[in-house]
Amino acid sequence: MKQQLEGMLAAARTALAGADAEAALQDVRVRFLGRKGELTALMKEMGALPPEERPAMGALVNRVKEEIEASFAARLAALREEEIGRRLVAERIDVTLPGRIHGGGSKHPITLVREEIVEIFSSLGFGVEEGPEIEKDFYNFEALNMPKDHPARDMQDTFYISDEVVLRTHTSPVQIRTMLQHQPPVRVIAPGTVYRRDSDITHSPMFHQIEGFLVDHRVTFGDLKGVLTSFISQFFGQGVAVRFRPSFFPFTEPSAEVDIQCVICGGKGCRVCKNSGWLEILGSGMIDPEVFKSVGYDPEVYTGFAFGMGLERVAMLKYGVSDLRLFFENDHRFLRQF
Ligand code: PHE
Repeated sequence: MKQQLEGMLAAARTALAGADAEAALQDVRVRFLGRKGELTALMKEMGALPPEERPAMGALVNRVKEEIEASFAARLAALREEEIGRRLVAERIDVTLPGRIHGGGSKHPITLVREEIVEIFSSLGFGVEEGPEIEKDFYNFEALNMPKDHPARDMQDTFYISDEVVLRTHTSPVQIRTMLQHQPPVRVIAPGTVYRRDSDITHSPMFHQIEGFLVDHRVTFGDLKGVLTSFISQFFGQGVAVRFRPSFFPFTEPSAEVDIQCVICGGKGCRVCKNSGWLEILGSGMIDPEVFKSVGYDPEVYTGFAFGMGLERVAMLKYGVSDLRLFFENDHRFLRQF
């Protein structure tokens, strides 16, 4: 029996060493140590031994069992080690390969222009306000001295949501909202999206404006000219000629439209400026006393000026873009250039 045991141990070791996968290794273990395994079968025969031989044989059986277990564990560890080694080679990652480059976005030219204008007016002490794009008739028209029968409220120009609610047609309602909330002095710039029923090469039904206004004691038309002239030379460059042309807005009196010398031809006359040498960039004026009355400011005590300009328009002039629609197509090849 002792020889049998030693033979079994040798056979088990050989079989374990020859197993080259975990499954095969498990089979070997079952073959020797399993409930119906060879060692188990041999142990059952121990009952037939004379009693004095049994303890020694029992100890031997245990030793053989332990050695098979130990060989099994060692082989299992070695196989797992080999497996890890194989995977490390097979699944190797070359960390020196350059990563995939995801093209970064760029700021939209309208955003760039808005940021620059806000920056310039901030340096003059103007704060930034915003208002809703869906606006009450009162703020968009009524309080801006545009009574119900005013032609600017014509169905052709305004998107009506209901009798009393519109998509704002300009950023001027932010003047009203701000003045209702703050007492003078106020110095505010209000960028935003506006809507008009208009669509062709030079008009989009949705576009952007920036409103600016200042109210205080003794504000004059000279202040309006000074602030806007300073803004224009910072934004379009020193030495660009500016002219103020009389105009009309219901909410300013007197009113002026501001032209700059054509940035395309330098004032000589071209297609863009329709041979006039000038380009209109904004509307402005001294805030009408009627507007002050509708927000509860005393027109005998305060004066102020306001202006509004189209961001698409100034972006086209600043960057030399000839078609307004390019701003709304969001073609990367166009946007990347700014
Ligand atoms: N709200 C006017 C427009 O959209 C522009 C403007 C603003 C004119 C402020 C004068 C003063 O055309």
